[in-house]
Amino acid sequence: MDNHNFNGYVVLKFAIDFLDRKPLGKSGELIPAVGIGTWAIRNEANAEKALVKAVELGLNLIDTAEMYGNGRAEELVGKVIKQVGRESVFIVTKMLPQHLIDRYEVIKAGRASLRRLGVREVDLFLIHWPNEFISIEKQVKNFEVLIDEGLTRYIGVSNFDVEALEEAVNATKKADIVADQVHYSVLHKEVEKRLLPKALELLITIQAYTPLERGAVLTHPKVVEVAKQVNKTPTQVALNYLISRPYVVAIVKSENEEHVKDIAGSLGWRLTKEQIEALEMV
Ligand SMILES: NC(=O)c1ccc[n+]([C@@H]2O[C@H](COP(=O)([O-])OP(=O)(O)OC[C@H]3O[C@@H](n4cnc5c(N)ncnc54)[C@H](OP(=O)(O)O)[C@@H]3O)[C@@H](O)[C@H]2O)c1
Repeated sequence: MDNHNFNGYVVLKFAIDFLDRKPLGKSGELIPAVGIGTWAIRNEANAEKALVKAVELGLNLIDTAEMYGNGRAEELVGKVIKQVGRESVFIVTKMLPQHLIDRYEVIKAGRASLRRLGVREVDLFLIHWPNEFISIEKQVKNFEVLIDEGLTRYIGVSNFDVEALEEAVNATKKADIVADQVHYSVLHKEVEKRLLPKALELLITIQAYTPLERGAVLTHPKVVEVAKQVNKTPTQVALNYLISRPYVVAIVKSENEEHVKDIAGSLGWRLTKEQIEALEMV
């Protein structure tokens, strides 16, 4: 990464972000540096317990989507919200691109997600990935109706590259794009080349999904070596690498309470500049 102008500051190449609650776009709101995902849940009872534990431990951003389990993941998140209270969770959900064809379809799909979640509005609604048959401008304008209708507090995108993100930002009339949720891990750093610098310039939060590479980071020799040096687990090192970047939060999936406790140990400390540099070479 080169130097960037960021919130009036110049972010030096290796400036480490120590915040465990990070800015959400330009909204002025802070969200947890690590949130929990809900894709590919195997056991719903375990997942419910793990999500409640996550909220208790301050990992109180839950990421879901209408696509996950064909709506079952949103229903499960709804059960968790009933237990912990609506105000305790920052809810992120995602709309399938096929609904973006017009505003009525967007409202219908948005309301269906809210019904499954059992809430009046979510905190952040994302376009799950771009609809390749409609211009970005049109789909973003249609999506903004969620703000008009009070179905979400913020809107964002997912799987948008630099060009699509810029188009999306330029298309907005009523609300800012506050986040782009993309694949980013210590083993998959494509994002660092162009998207992260652009996000810092535009003040858009990057939500890093698949941050453990579905378990592959746990046995990666370099990650394991750094974990031994700092007396942390490979999971904690992999997540810490991501959240040490300004404007980056991680979304990690777990339906296991013990794993959730391990994940919570990624907060409250940071790798050194040298350790981050070593991991940049991976
Ligand atoms: N926007 C998108 O297009 C998109 C795409 C993919 C993912 N996502 C979101 O990002 C979330 C995370 O990504 P992901 O599910 O692909 O992969 P991931 O978070 O990299 O890996 C999840 C896997 O790691 C295991 N795990 C979690 N914590 C662990 C720990 N402390 N020790 C050992 N294993 C651990 C989980 O098992 P247990 O459940 O048994 O703990 C699960 O098998 C998804 O759930 C979803 O919400 C979004």
